[in-house]
Amino acid sequence: MDDGLRSRSIAACSDPGPGLPPPVMELELPAHGELLTHEPLLQLIAELMDTPFAFHHLHSDRHGPGIPGKPWHHDCESNDLDDPKLLMVHALHYLGGLDGTIGSLTIMPGSHREPWSKSALAHLGTVELPGEVVIDSLPPGSTVLVNSALVHARRPAPSPPGTAPRYFVDACYCQTGARWRPVKPYWRHMLATARALGLDGGRWPELFAERHFTEYARSA
Ligand SMILES: [Fe+2]
Repeated sequence: MDDGLRSRSIAACSDPGPGLPPPVMELELPAHGELLTHEPLLQLIAELMDTPFAFHHLHSDRHGPGIPGKPWHHDCESNDLDDPKLLMVHALHYLGGLDGTIGSLTIMPGSHREPWSKSALAHLGTVELPGEVVIDSLPPGSTVLVNSALVHARRPAPSPPGTAPRYFVDACYCQTGARWRPVKPYWRHMLATARALGLDGGRWPELFAERHFTEYARSA
């Protein structure tokens, strides 16, 4: 964060140029690469998927005190078969846990079964919805594994003086069987680097395979 790698990573995604990768991707940092392919996590995801699965993307961020909310949304990308049965999941890693002092994770159980677009409920902001579940108490080192189509929000929380920042990593995985839309213009470089680093340990041959993705196209 302090070296500006996070902001350069974001800039590489929004750069209208040829899609050059940032100088360093998150998965090249050893702890991130380790988390991405943490064996118990991959085993758990394998139990949820009917077919092998691929890595889709990984983000890393630092949330400081007073961080604004993030409106209701989901993060499921499309695939070229438009098959809603193919599963995409997000592993939300709360490295320091959650304690209600920095935005809380709020989810709408069952919402992944609705055919909503990613931002269909964004106009509601982070308003309280009937049936929602607020996750604001998790011990350090917690991971929340969600269906990526689950509608969720980050609800702002009052941060008392001295509140420490929260480090947050989210990693996304998708079931094979169709080709998914990549979210980073340099996605081929990302997968090739993961393969070159041997992150899958030789145990997950589909995890970084290119054939599970369509060409990158900027969203309208
Ligand atoms: Fe999200």
